[in-house]
Amino acid sequence: MTRIAIYPGTFDPVTRGHEDLIRRSLRFADQVVVAVAENPGKAPLFSLDERIGFLRTVTEGMGAVEIRAFSGLLAAFAQEIGADIVVRGLRAVSDFEYEFQMALMNRQLNTDLETIFLVPALDLTYLSSSLVREVARFGGPVDGFVHPAVSRALQAKFKQ
Ligand code: PNS
Repeated sequence: MTRIAIYPGTFDPVTRGHEDLIRRSLRFADQVVVAVAENPGKAPLFSLDERIGFLRTVTEGMGAVEIRAFSGLLAAFAQEIGADIVVRGLRAVSDFEYEFQMALMNRQLNTDLETIFLVPALDLTYLSSSLVREVARFGGPVDGFVHPAVSRALQAKFKQ
């Protein structure tokens, strides 16, 4: 049996923290599907295609990782691709309430789906896409937080 884990998110943009969790997920899953939410409600800085492109770049050579876009319910998409694990990162206690609700709702919608929370590497714990966007918006350095291709794209975006 092939164990497929789904790692969903907005990834606006993908950070070194996300990369870390993808690598960790490959330790227990045969395949990791990174599911990029269209998420128009959040008005992402980067288009869906850009976010997918960055993820393809950062996961190159990682092995059994697939990048897929999805819209609609995560629970339905997980069922469609045969995933029975949802991976989410927990950085701080402040993440917990939302993540807990989401995990319970997803299992309510798809009883075969279990959520596994992973803790990122210690030096990446404080990292979030929104913080990275904010630093970049005001011209701060983001090189340590994201892949060089993402860093260049952020600089270009805020130069416009
Ligand atoms: O990176 P994010 O923005 O925290 O990811 C949130 C995401 C995309 C995983 C979540 O909003 C989601 O699963 N959206 C799809 C719609 C859905 O299934 N909503 C109900 C979940 S309880």
